[in-house]
Amino acid sequence: MKGPLVIAIDGPSAAGKGTLARRLAAHFRLPHLDTGLLYRAVGLLAEKSGRRPGEVATALQPSDLADPDLRTDQAGQAASKVAALPEVRDNLLNFQKKFAYQASGAVLDGRDIGTVICPGAPVKLFVTASLEARAERRHRELRERGLDTIKPRVLAEMAERDRRDSERAAAPLQAAPDAFLLDTSDMDADAAFAAALAFIERKGFRSSGP
Ligand code: CDP
Repeated sequence: MKGPLVIAIDGPSAAGKGTLARRLAAHFRLPHLDTGLLYRAVGLLAEKSGRRPGEVATALQPSDLADPDLRTDQAGQAASKVAALPEVRDNLLNFQKKFAYQASGAVLDGRDIGTVICPGAPVKLFVTASLEARAERRHRELRERGLDTIKPRVLAEMAERDRRDSERAAAPLQAAPDAFLLDTSDMDADAAFAAALAFIERKGFRSSGP
């Protein structure tokens, strides 16, 4: 018998993981965890409080994930620094595994979901796009939120984060061998959703809704 539907979505910054994860979660009526928020919260709280990131990771509260500052690029950079620490990753592991293996099934997006958190997930997607396309999207997104940014800076910071996330020893960003590769450089959100859904349906999973 087929087990619960667990969808593991990985990929670099601004590739479209978050939007895709939210849409798939709504379509299949599954709970969704944006695991980047956990690392953002640890990064930001450790910076603000001066406490050890590993210690912050053990004491994370749901309310810590609601801070609007978590969406800034400063939080993204802080996240990618603490995310390289094995102690931080270890302390966030159980919470993510529990979320992934709840009876309903789940959607998780991040960097190591298909490789470390739930390598047994029946659906793994690796969502990527060119650095140029991702920087353009992130730049637009930040501008829409009223933040003053220039594109060359967004691109340089994104390249730096890509490098840090891919080259670190602890759970580096990489596609699981059985992940479906989705390059969204020339796709809008609807096209990416349609491609992912077709893959998931080929695996025999359908939405039970009307
Ligand atoms: O939204 P964006 O893709 O820019 O970033 P995010 O998913 O919120 O992740 C922020 C940072 O957290 C990443 O650059 C990674 O360093 C780290 N992260 C991680 O190491 N593992 C995860 N499962 C999720 C995020």
